[in-house]
Amino acid sequence: MAKKSYPLSKVYGLLEPGPVVLVSTAGGDRPDIMTLSWHTMIEFEPPLVGCVVSNRNHSFDLLRASGECVINIPTLDIAEQVVGCGNSSGADIDKFERFGLTPKPAKYVAAPLIEECYANLECRVADTTLVTPYCLFVLEVVQAWIDPAMKAPRTLHHLGHGNFMVAGERIKLKSKMK
Ligand SMILES: Cc1cc2nc3c(=O)[nH]c(=O)nc-3n(C[C@H](O)[C@H](O)[C@H](O)COP(=O)(O)O)c2cc1C
Repeated sequence: MAKKSYPLSKVYGLLEPGPVVLVSTAGGDRPDIMTLSWHTMIEFEPPLVGCVVSNRNHSFDLLRASGECVINIPTLDIAEQVVGCGNSSGADIDKFERFGLTPKPAKYVAAPLIEECYANLECRVADTTLVTPYCLFVLEVVQAWIDPAMKAPRTLHHLGHGNFMVAGERIKLKSKMK
């Protein structure tokens, strides 16, 4: 099949691994939440996650100052809130209040867990080497929580420009890798 050239500006939509997450931070006047899809696993254990947080976001300042955050993994049922948190600034509004989300105390970090998300990963900033050139924070997950009742979470995967894929069918394949 003949392939056609694809704009470089749209490449991210092909590769974004998802799921889209909500990053909660604490500090300043109130806690904040931002939507984030540019993340990648870096290490199994302790789990290290690289997250690109633009320095134009209020969350960038809170994350850099506190060195802590929670990566919350939302599902389809709160998709509207996910988009809302990604199109407003915590410098202007209280996103927990505006979007009807519930903050719960975390075990190890000051940033709150978002109760409505099916998983919550408490994180500490482990490496800031790439923050200045790429706004990329390396986060260490120090505590993870999951809703055991949710067997097949319908996570959201960003394709760009308001388009999302919803996780659905699951298959298990035999792997020769040890
Ligand atoms: C689906 C989606 C994915 C996003 N992914 C990122 C991301 O990976 N990194 C980033 O810096 N901003 C991302 N954003 C934008 C921020 O969520 C947005 O700028 C937000 O308003 C920041 O909030 P804050 O100013 O309260 O921190 C995304 C927005 C949406 C809707």
